[in-house]
Amino acid sequence: MPNQEKRIEESEIFKNAPLEEPARQYYFIEQARELVKKQSEELGRPLTFCCVTFGCQMNARDSEKLTGILEQVGYVTSEDENADFVLYNTCTVRENANLRVYGRLGHLHSLKNKNPHMRIGLCGCMMQESHVVEKIKKSYPFVDLVFGTHNLYKFPELLTTMLLNNRMIVDIWKETDQIVEDLPADRKYPFKSGVNIMFGCNNFCSYCIVPYVRGRERSREPKAIIREIERLVADGVKEVMLLGQNVNSYGKTLEHPITFAELLEEIEKIEGLERVRFMTSHPKDLSDELIAVMAKSQKICHHLHLPLQSGSSRILKEMNRRYDQERYLNLVEKIRGAVPDISLTTDIIVGFPGETEEDFQETLKVVEQVGYDTAFTFIYSKRSGTPAASMENQVPEDVIKDRFDRLLSLVQEKGRQASSRFLGTVQEVLVEEKSRTAPGMLTGRMGQNLLVHFPGDPSLIGEMIPVRLNECKGFYYIGEKI
Ligand code: 5AD
Ligand code: SF4
Repeated sequence: MPNQEKRIEESEIFKNAPLEEPARQYYFIEQARELVKKQSEELGRPLTFCCVTFGCQMNARDSEKLTGILEQVGYVTSEDENADFVLYNTCTVRENANLRVYGRLGHLHSLKNKNPHMRIGLCGCMMQESHVVEKIKKSYPFVDLVFGTHNLYKFPELLTTMLLNNRMIVDIWKETDQIVEDLPADRKYPFKSGVNIMFGCNNFCSYCIVPYVRGRERSREPKAIIREIERLVADGVKEVMLLGQNVNSYGKTLEHPITFAELLEEIEKIEGLERVRFMTSHPKDLSDELIAVMAKSQKICHHLHLPLQSGSSRILKEMNRRYDQERYLNLVEKIRGAVPDISLTTDIIVGFPGETEEDFQETLKVVEQVGYDTAFTFIYSKRSGTPAASMENQVPEDVIKDRFDRLLSLVQEKGRQASSRFLGTVQEVLVEEKSRTAPGMLTGRMGQNLLVHFPGDPSLIGEMIPVRLNECKGFYYIGEKI
């Protein structure tokens, strides 16, 4: 379409757009649908999309929203990145994640050279860093759309703008206090779903970039959360995962503050909902009230992800975690006392600036003592703009690598021991999928987040059923349906 005509169409489309949300975005979904339809008629085939997610569960949930919108607009899923629209939902928590995105952009460029209709979008945490956006503008001019975490809800509007233009569209907001409810989402699993209960983080752990890219903590209204879960349950969902960077501080900033434990009690009442999970818990905010609610609940899974980060009280202070080793271990003891079969998992960073062998030994001691089912271990990554990045005594790479290997082998050994404790018992599992490794088998997930593979008919997928755990294979079981 000649430029002149396109501009007229663009101004018409924008002039008629409602101002209130989410009505405005539903309007743009309609507009984008028309544009996609027109282009696919011209091409004589449907337009395809591929949304690639980097990073955490929050990003995975955001991608379900992005995918839901793309499907409503008329794009169909493509198996790979050879698609008409490729969207990377990026993560920047560690440098590796950024490098992977830059690496893959090179590959996308060659695909775009072969497909003149191809459009490329970038969103998520990495885009909230100004040096990243500068680099993309300068070195990756073939990218069509760049937006961040705060304006994700505006995706239909941004998509429409992109479809009407041939220049790079960049829209990054520094902050937002807005939470837009009720946009479409396409769930990966029909029977389970993530549910955001809050956004952002106020903790400013000294190594972490999240508070800078996800902004200040904002909680959703309990009513909106309950309404979303009720709708999900009516649509076949049995298990929800409540998502937030620090769910234990949920509700503090609401006009009528409520605690996370109180929210859980409300969610427990939803009929038809069978399981509730949540992550992530910050040890400093985990209350006795929450432990009591978990202990008496019929629906809250006996699994707690409780990031340790370091076992050394000195390093924890430098990390600005606001608990020490003693308080962490007391908390673990209290939880185990109230919920004896709880599964504990954690995150640990190796090589924080100034970490000595003695500090590292303290981390090993806590891992030994707690006996986590799983621990996610990370090599410290320097994130510019965080306080830790300007600390002087960065630990040499070879020392970090050696500590990392030692930690990993202890974590694996303890994980194997912890995971085998249910051998011979019968457990309720939610059947999730056909086993990816063993043909003819199904995979079910226990409340404690452990997996069991067992023979069964795929019609059981999405059902809660009892399974006997006959054999422990390290981190998973082989079992039989009873
Ligand atoms: N370097 C290494 N790991 C990090 N994490 C957060 N920031 C960094 C960093 N700069 C880890 C923490 C957190 C998990 C999501 O990522 O362990 O809990
Ligand atoms: Fe990062 Fe700490 Fe917030 Fe977690 S609690 S997102 S580690 S700043």
